[in-house]
Amino acid sequence: PPVTSAFRRRRSPAPAPPQRVAEILADPGFGRYATDHMVTIDYTPERGWHDAWVRPHEPLSLSPCTKALHYGQAIFEGLKAYRQPDGTIACFRPEANARRFRDSARRLAMPELPEDLFLASLRELAGYDEGWVPEGRGRSLYLRPLMIATSTDLVVGAARDYLYVLVALPSGAYFTGGAAPVTVWLSEEHIRAAPGGTGAAKCAGNYAGTMAAQARAAEQGCDQVVWLDAVERRWVEEMGAMNLFFVFGTGPGARLVTPQLSGSLLPGVTRDSILRLAHDLGHPVEERRVSVEEWQKAALTGELAEVFACGTAAVITPVGTVRHATGGFAVGDSRTGPVTVALRNALTEIHHGISGDPYGWMYRL
Ligand code: COI
Repeated sequence: PPVTSAFRRRRSPAPAPPQRVAEILADPGFGRYATDHMVTIDYTPERGWHDAWVRPHEPLSLSPCTKALHYGQAIFEGLKAYRQPDGTIACFRPEANARRFRDSARRLAMPELPEDLFLASLRELAGYDEGWVPEGRGRSLYLRPLMIATSTDLVVGAARDYLYVLVALPSGAYFTGGAAPVTVWLSEEHIRAAPGGTGAAKCAGNYAGTMAAQARAAEQGCDQVVWLDAVERRWVEEMGAMNLFFVFGTGPGARLVTPQLSGSLLPGVTRDSILRLAHDLGHPVEERRVSVEEWQKAALTGELAEVFACGTAAVITPVGTVRHATGGFAVGDSRTGPVTVALRNALTEIHHGISGDPYGWMYRL
């Protein structure tokens, strides 16, 4: 199978001028600017993964009959590389994303990209676009691996041919409101995922189905949708494209609860990391079902002190207010709580190499 040395290389004929890169890195936002290069690797059943390229970031040429465009065989990942105090670049837990990419591929009947090839693609691209990794807390290079079905017959069925693409985009805050608490809408009308469906895979279709619900939440004056289970509309699953945590009680004994991975939740890498960090900070942690009734009741009695969502893009986002068809309630004092802040600091200090790497989570690119 191809390894690092198998990548062929073509430099961008017109890389962004250093002045322009500096301007972008000073205020990258999220997902607005791509770096100079990308990686592509082709797959056919006969040749397996082949023709690995690092090449200029440029439009792909695709037939309008490309199967991914019609039937949605498209999966992706999201991970971040951070500038370290010694100037080197390290990526947060890329092995976990490589594994999940394979899991997503299996669910969508797509070929699995070997984990060493996934990691090699990150190293290759970072080698070319190293100057695009910002400095400073909360800034990173967002890496977006993607795999699409490229066969052009329109028979409904798994494609033969596939394309892996890796692009990179410098990133700052994901939400325009920064790290301020968000107001959420409990979606009783739309669902994100159902038992037996694709909710645990990171596939494009899972996101396509959320846009109408997100628009509905915005109409209600809310920032984000909270997804409930498809069967009873009773159990809390996720918020937007992020996992949720509930903090019961206060102080060192505060308990953290996150919805268990039911098969319809995305197994977040940040979720997994927070479970570990919270436990090691002395908080009891639990993965179990959380109902809307429990959420509302515990918020009203004050037992529920904090709620936050987590994911790679926004890292940790506090939830301040909840609204639903028949009312609403506040969580805690609607401000970012101390446990949320402590976990966010612990995680971002690891990202930026401020507190060392006690878990071996940082992977030098
Ligand atoms: C995340 O990183 O939290 C996400 O899944 C959002 C991403 C699709 C932009």
